[in-house]
Amino acid sequence: MFQANQASFSMATLNGKNILLGITGGIAAYKSAELCRLLRKQNAVVRVVMTRGACEFISPLTFQALSGNPVHTQLLDSDAEAGMGHIELAKWPDLIIVAPATANFIAKYSQGLADDLLLTLLIASTAPVAIAPAMNQAMWSNPLTQRNIRELQTALLEQVTFLGPAEGEQACGDIGAGRMLEASELCDAVEEVLAVLLDADAGPLSGQRVVITAGPTREAIDPVRYISNHSSGKMGYALAAACAEQGADVVLVSGPVQIERPKQVKVAMVESATEMMSSVDQEIALGCDIFISAAAVADYSPVMVADQKMKKKGEDDVVLNLTQNVDIVATVAARPSKPYVVGFAAETNDVLNYAKGKLVKKNLDMIVANDVSRSDIGFNSDHNAVHIITANEIIEVPKQSKKELARSIVKSIVLNSKTRKSTTKLDKKG
Ligand code: C5P
Repeated sequence: MFQANQASFSMATLNGKNILLGITGGIAAYKSAELCRLLRKQNAVVRVVMTRGACEFISPLTFQALSGNPVHTQLLDSDAEAGMGHIELAKWPDLIIVAPATANFIAKYSQGLADDLLLTLLIASTAPVAIAPAMNQAMWSNPLTQRNIRELQTALLEQVTFLGPAEGEQACGDIGAGRMLEASELCDAVEEVLAVLLDADAGPLSGQRVVITAGPTREAIDPVRYISNHSSGKMGYALAAACAEQGADVVLVSGPVQIERPKQVKVAMVESATEMMSSVDQEIALGCDIFISAAAVADYSPVMVADQKMKKKGEDDVVLNLTQNVDIVATVAARPSKPYVVGFAAETNDVLNYAKGKLVKKNLDMIVANDVSRSDIGFNSDHNAVHIITANEIIEVPKQSKKELARSIVKSIVLNSKTRKSTTKLDKKG
């Protein structure tokens, strides 16, 4: 059973979270008004459901004002059902807290009864439920109440957490266990329950910032012409989505492509290699644990970019002077406190040897090699087959969709970047 303790988690846990506050008929309902206010103060979205008994103790209007939302009191109310029906309401919350929870409520919930709105939506909901009991000490210690609590905890082990009760003086004058926790303790406890759930949900890259380059670059010749390549950007975008799936904070620095932006990924669009380098610099300055260079950066760009469209001058041949672009991935990997750096090698022959050479030359931690001479995979295709190469191993990943492949590559990155971190720590100690 949860006991309120010192809050050591971030204030942001409640930000934007949907909290359903259920109130049953007990004198402690007055404390729930303060709980509602505190949850709102932490930017939670609060909806309140009150039982008939709760409405005897405190007015729904109080909670309407404090939550900023209409209060739900009836199961079979056609107006309320048109606004947000009980099933919708059951699906809405990130967490349900019932405070105060009476002995009667606990008894009914433990038996799966659904004879009012609160019980019905609890039975219909898969959201985590926190219960803050509030009752007279004799009612709390009654074996029937204790049995109901045990049954509820056994049946809904993963879903239900009891918050309190506290011991002390009670409204009826008795002294003992059964007092509802204070509003601030409940608010902290709700945050803690949510923080634990968020941690459990977070993927292995949670808390890590990943910067990824993707797509081609365009190197201007004049205002209407440029040098570029066939890169579609699909691999880089799939990697961004796969990293976000694993909980990373992802930034995609993308050359010009026609692909939908992955959800929960920050995208910075750029054109040239120079722009890509400065965008990467800016993002890495904000923090970067893993850098993945999937962009097909143009190796050269014109020395001079004409201000006006270049005209034909009658010559058969034109000479375009090109200069080498900065090597973005090698620049990032050359930094003293470099992130874990992953490069790509698109080769047409002797794929593994060229890729291994680049791993060493560019000081990369991993290189993903693919054979672009094959017409069924690589550029513009939805599929690819690669070799994942590190200093210690070569893993062959057979032909599959770029989405699946991205997941395999990210899995390898997770494993290898963690190992590198722990060996770096050992090196430092040694
Ligand atoms: O040398 P090559 O272009 O084959 O190396 C490929 C790897 O280097 C890729 O990861 C690519 O994104 C990166 N690269 C870069 N900047 C360049 C050229 C390549 O980051 N100017």
